[in-house]
Amino acid sequence: MLAVVFLLTAAVLALVQVRMRAHVAEDLASALRTESDVYSKVEEARRQQSALSAALIANLPSLKALMSTHDPLTIQDASEAFLQTSGADVLILEDPAGTEMAIHSRNKHVITSSERLLLFHSSGQHDWWFVNGHLYDLSFAPVTAGAGSEAHRLGQVALGREVTPQSMAGTDALKDGPIIFERDGHVLLSSLDPILWEDFQSWLAKSSHHPQSIQEIDIQGERYLGSFIELSGDHPIRLFCLKSYDQATSFLGLLNRMLVMLGAIAVLTGALFGFVLSRQITRPLEDLVIASRQMEKGDFEFPIKVQGRDEVAELTRAFEQMRKSLRLSREGMLRSARLEAVGRLAGGIAHDFNNLVMIIKGYSDLLLESALPENRPHIEEIKRAGDRASGLTRQLLAFSRKQVLEPQVLDLNHTVRGMLKMIRLLLGEDIELLTSLSEQIGRVKADPGQLEQVIMNLAVNARDALPGRGKVIIETHFCDLDETYAATHNEVAPGPYVLLAVTDNGCGMNSETLTQIFEPFFTTKEPGKGTGLGLATVYGIVKQSRGHVTVYSEVGVGTTFKIYLPAIDKPALAPQSQPAAQLSAGHGTVLLVEDEAPLRALAAEALKRLGYHVLQAGNGLEALVAADQHPGDIHIVVTDIVMPRMGGPEFVEKLRRKRTGFSVVFMSGYTEAAVLENANIGKDSILLNKPFSTETLVQKMREVQEAAAAEPIPAPSTES
Ligand SMILES: Nc1ncnc2c1ncn2[C@@H]1O[C@H](COP(=O)(O)OP(=O)(O)OP(=O)(O)O)[C@@H](O)[C@H]1O
Ligand SMILES: [Mg+2]
Repeated sequence: MLAVVFLLTAAVLALVQVRMRAHVAEDLASALRTESDVYSKVEEARRQQSALSAALIANLPSLKALMSTHDPLTIQDASEAFLQTSGADVLILEDPAGTEMAIHSRNKHVITSSERLLLFHSSGQHDWWFVNGHLYDLSFAPVTAGAGSEAHRLGQVALGREVTPQSMAGTDALKDGPIIFERDGHVLLSSLDPILWEDFQSWLAKSSHHPQSIQEIDIQGERYLGSFIELSGDHPIRLFCLKSYDQATSFLGLLNRMLVMLGAIAVLTGALFGFVLSRQITRPLEDLVIASRQMEKGDFEFPIKVQGRDEVAELTRAFEQMRKSLRLSREGMLRSARLEAVGRLAGGIAHDFNNLVMIIKGYSDLLLESALPENRPHIEEIKRAGDRASGLTRQLLAFSRKQVLEPQVLDLNHTVRGMLKMIRLLLGEDIELLTSLSEQIGRVKADPGQLEQVIMNLAVNARDALPGRGKVIIETHFCDLDETYAATHNEVAPGPYVLLAVTDNGCGMNSETLTQIFEPFFTTKEPGKGTGLGLATVYGIVKQSRGHVTVYSEVGVGTTFKIYLPAIDKPALAPQSQPAAQLSAGHGTVLLVEDEAPLRALAAEALKRLGYHVLQAGNGLEALVAADQHPGDIHIVVTDIVMPRMGGPEFVEKLRRKRTGFSVVFMSGYTEAAVLENANIGKDSILLNKPFSTETLVQKMREVQEAAAAEPIPAPSTES
């Protein structure tokens, strides 16, 4: 860029130089022509004047009388007055033979010069006389006596005027350009420095000349333009007028320097402008490019400065916004991927643990029935430990979204209101509980028990965050999450949601804590005070209910948890009061299908104690065989859902093709939500969540029997 500007400037300068030089040469030539013209005219006028003066002197009677004496001494002495009268610089009188009779000059050197006679051989009316370094312009006039036929010549008078460069060109002769009088290749007089005459003479010798033509002359390295005029006479001379071309073009050097300076200023200004431009436009764009490359590498924190309100600044702002959204969504994705991985791990452990817990609890129940009084406290301790383990397992299953939900369409406000009394007790007197429940929130589909668990966990956390006193606010309202919100919040589908917000003005959390709170076993509480499963459970339940959870917290200000559950357009079910389970004697045949042998044995034991006849099988295939081999009726099938070789739903479906008249109880503690949803467990089937206590088993068996008594068992179904 700079190189181009420099080249252009240099080219312009060169062009200007050439044009200017051509102009100067033309101007000089034209000035020379005019000058030569003027000199010839002035010279002509002078000559006429001089000739007239000579004629006047020649006709003076006193001169005639003097010349008539023919005596050189008398004539020399008496004629001096004529020089004064004529105003000329030299006066010469000759006799008719051409012999000098008198000579008078204002310059003594001329009179005494030996050259004077040699040079004074003029026969015309006019001549140039160069003597002893002085140049005279001479005009001649005859001196005659008598008139007509009696006239006879007495001689002639010559009047001379000294010519100097100054008298020709004025005192500024050198300033305007030197003039040179030359004859036969020799400089006679010149306003040029005498040391340069030699150079001029050698130039004269080398070149041919035409009057008025303009020629270039080099004198000691200085270039001149010159022309000459012929000054006629018996011994003519030439007058050269010169103009220094170098001096005339010297201003071009100055102009050049000025232009170079201007060019430099232009280039510098251009560079400065370019720099400013680059600072304002190019630099931010470069920053954007670097930032986007950094973003590709995963660095979302590369600093970008946004200044001003121009297009580039707007672009940078848009980029910053996009980067923020991407970072948020990436963080969300990473967090949910991490939680997903931890959830899978926790779910796997919880599943196996669940069965073990059930065995511990079940057998401690069995033992309690027949235990000696002194053993009872120990067995009860085992049972309590089992209960605690069962609670933990449930939370882990909830977090890993592998617990079996029993979703219902419900009114969230109703659920909240039902819990207020309990929450007030939990918070204590010094913590104020405020509610803001919007009536227009629609319905949600969720497991009411799990939803209560969510609210409870959040309330407990809020209480723990408050230093004994403060405020907890529970709000519900309807909200529509748009595409923009969905784009920045990972895994959120746009649409209508019911929002449940729990806010406290407690200690708040820093950003590091915030990134980990949903992880199971993350707690900041003292050992024994928190397990770190509260929010993990909340997360699991909300996710399993197709909702999502966000949190906003500021250290020392407080925290808000927001739970969004998809709003649905169905009326809520009236809550049903659960009849208390009663141990009642069972009757009929139960086919128990469970792959975990100790668990199967435990359940079989409990069912036998209730009075049922129990057939056992380790999976669906075995159960089909057992059913085939049993000649009598099978009244109830109690089966696990996920089992090797053949799962519960498939087995029930196959059995219904062979037999009718049986009810089904599905047991499940571990099932992927998808498995449960896709499994055709039948509308009339009853679900029993593991781990279950003997009481729960009894209650479910009762429900099955009551349902079977109320309506006839449906015919075999081929529905898939
Ligand atoms: N409302 C809140 N204000 C401040 N910090 C909170 C709040 N809720 C949760 N936390 C922080 O998140 C951590 C994890 O909470 P979480 O409910 O999962 O476990 P916990 O309360 O520590 O134990 P648990 O609920 O299992 O008894 C807490 O230890 C606490 O540091
Ligand atoms: Mg908690």
